Amino acid sequence: MRDLITVILAAGAGTRMRSNTAKVMHKICGQTLLDYVIDAAKKAGSDEIIAVIGHQADQMRESVKDIAFVLQKEQLGTGHAVMQARPLLEGKAGTVLVLYGDTPLITAQTLKKAYEAHLDNKNQVTVITARVHDPTGYGRIVRDQDGMISSIVEHKDATEEQRAIDEINSGMYFFEVPALLKALDRLDNANSQGEYYLTDTIEMILSDNGSAGAFLIDDCTEILGINDRLQLSEAEKIMRDRIIHEHMKNGVSFILPETSVIGPKVEIGRDTVIYPGTLLEGNTRIGEQCHIGPYTRISNSAVGNDVHIMNSVVLDSQIGYMTKVGPFAYLRPGSKIGNNVKIGDFVEVKKSEIGDNTKVSHLTYIGDARVGKNVNMGCGVVVVNYDGTNKHQTVVGDHAFVGCNVNLVSPVEVKPFAYIAAGSTITDEVPEYALAIARNRQTIISDWVKKKGLDKR
Ligand code: UD1
Ligand code: CA
Repeated sequence: MRDLITVILAAGAGTRMRSNTAKVMHKICGQTLLDYVIDAAKKAGSDEIIAVIGHQADQMRESVKDIAFVLQKEQLGTGHAVMQARPLLEGKAGTVLVLYGDTPLITAQTLKKAYEAHLDNKNQVTVITARVHDPTGYGRIVRDQDGMISSIVEHKDATEEQRAIDEINSGMYFFEVPALLKALDRLDNANSQGEYYLTDTIEMILSDNGSAGAFLIDDCTEILGINDRLQLSEAEKIMRDRIIHEHMKNGVSFILPETSVIGPKVEIGRDTVIYPGTLLEGNTRIGEQCHIGPYTRISNSAVGNDVHIMNSVVLDSQIGYMTKVGPFAYLRPGSKIGNNVKIGDFVEVKKSEIGDNTKVSHLTYIGDARVGKNVNMGCGVVVVNYDGTNKHQTVVGDHAFVGCNVNLVSPVEVKPFAYIAAGSTITDEVPEYALAIARNRQTIISDWVKKKGLDKR
């Protein structure tokens, strides 16, 4: 079987981003530019991915795990960049797909079609090209009298006549490995920029009687490269629309879609409505018939069917079906909320389980706790899970009733069906069916105000 090996060029400095973060590590819709390119390559059938890195190389090695890296110490041009991958390509029979790490809008669909054309035409090289309104700065596609590609001329090296060509080089190519390696050997840097141009391989392959093709794509937004923050935000807008339109096609409604950002890996069930200002990030899965938002952020979480979440933040958590969250709730990592639960306003839950049908309606903190089913947590309950040094566990049994303004000083256990009076600070186990009162009784001093003369004020 022949392999498809993708080489992603990402060694450039990305100076115009003015950033301490490597350019391809910047994100659109919550995912790095590089990860979009990797995803497209994988979906297009790539068997192996090699990234050529240079500037801020360590950041990239740390953040991406399942690809190979080669270092380009000095950035001497795109041809020189591909040369760095030579040791990993030698002796291989397949095809090399060259992509850029800063071109995240390329789709697997386009790559697949271009690859098919490359194989069908038995090309040694196929360049992905596009017609653009303003070709300034790009390499131009020069075609012969039969309309076949004959070379690529860089803007800086082009004649006036060539500069008038509006078909440009996207920088993405399919190469047969032997033809690529042979051409790379012969590259020089005798051009206006003193760089080793990958584009020069076209003429070399043709002069060896190889065949070269240009695959012209219709949607030139797919090849949009990102060099500055403006282009980053333009690319994000395109990606955002693309993702949201896909969800709409699948039966999800959006109110003011331009105000929401949905990550590329997010799944949303049909008949769910996404209200304005909603961010759904990472590996988030939302069920059917949910109402999410307005102004809600959900990250790496699973949400069941018929759930309503408004004005809230949910991180690395799970929520069952028919549960209501918010407004103004904060579910922190490791929370597992059951079915038909109510998590009301100003409730914070951290690393805790909340059982089915339980109500935590307002102003409550629950941390490192296991709260059972059909529990009522009153207003202002605090799980006192931290003693200044260690975190401790709290357990509240099924059907327990915890009154308002109760402190549960952990570690402590409230057994099933127990009641706790309002204002109690609970430090010891509350047995099943018992009532715990842990506060001073009220004292009445009659006519105290008069005796003090305070009624005359
Ligand atoms: C290149 C093409 C040009 C094409 C354009 C599309 C060449 C000579 N020119 O232009 O025809 O229209 O892309 O955007 O190939 N990189 C490295 N190492 C290097 C140089 C570049 O990794 O030594 C990477 C950059 O990080 C970037 C990509 O290659 O991701 C393209 O580099 P860039 O300088 O933007 O391309 P141009 O030479 O302007
Ligand atoms: Ca560029």
